[in-house]
Amino acid sequence: DDPAADPFEIAATAAAEIAERTGVEKHDIALTLGSGWAKAADLIGETTATIPALEITGFSKPALAGHVGTLRSVLLPSGKRALIIGARTHYYEGHGVRRVVHSVRTAAATGASTMILTNGAGGIRETWSPGTPVLISDHINLTADSPLEGATFVDLTDLYSVRLRDLARSVENGLDEGVYCQFRGPHYETPAEVQMAKTIGGHIVGMSTALEAIAARQSGMEILGMSLITNLAAGIQKTPLSHEEVIQAGKDAETRISSLLARIVATL
Ligand code: 6GU
Repeated sequence: DDPAADPFEIAATAAAEIAERTGVEKHDIALTLGSGWAKAADLIGETTATIPALEITGFSKPALAGHVGTLRSVLLPSGKRALIIGARTHYYEGHGVRRVVHSVRTAAATGASTMILTNGAGGIRETWSPGTPVLISDHINLTADSPLEGATFVDLTDLYSVRLRDLARSVENGLDEGVYCQFRGPHYETPAEVQMAKTIGGHIVGMSTALEAIAARQSGMEILGMSLITNLAAGIQKTPLSHEEVIQAGKDAETRISSLLARIVATL
């Protein structure tokens, strides 16, 4: 949180601690598992180490009960190593954007060249029922913030890898995709804001992922983004939104979408 500190040095320290604690010198892939996706950690391979995230430099206390709060090292059948980030710091927690992207920068510092970002989100397309997994094709960052500091001009064309999206579709035919709008939250959008998101080209509304993807691009990682539609956005769905409903929809879909993600990871 010290403005004079170098966030990349802090990430390098965290990565060194992870290497030490896991005995794994280099991770190949990192996955941030959001609402509804957590079971993928058990399906992609054999967990060789689990670390409470709070014991690693730069990680913050999870704001939500039910968020995992651990980092796991998983050995994939291919021999590759995956770092599972079950500890996401959300922008709405107010700790600043450096904290939000620390896990991504740490993943990059462990050697990971692929970043898989998942979340639970609201759908703007009426045809999406709760439980639908959607590939993120692009994003609109509505936080008015950036993880980049100073004159760091990073190109964000094809931020969400075309190659990885094609790969995902080769695993699940007809997987839909859409543009993810990151709002600050933690309130859900008003129906008018959802209409705005739709008008400017958005299909999915959420409170994470875009800032993390920007940091992952800055670190040179290839990015796959996936949303689980837990509900339709305000005004699209006719009933008021509730956090409990969102969590329940995540639970109901968890086995199915976690297995989908595991099958995608197996092709990497
Ligand atoms: Cl409707 N909006 C946002 N921002 N995040 C969500 C959501 C909606 N539903 C689940 N997560």
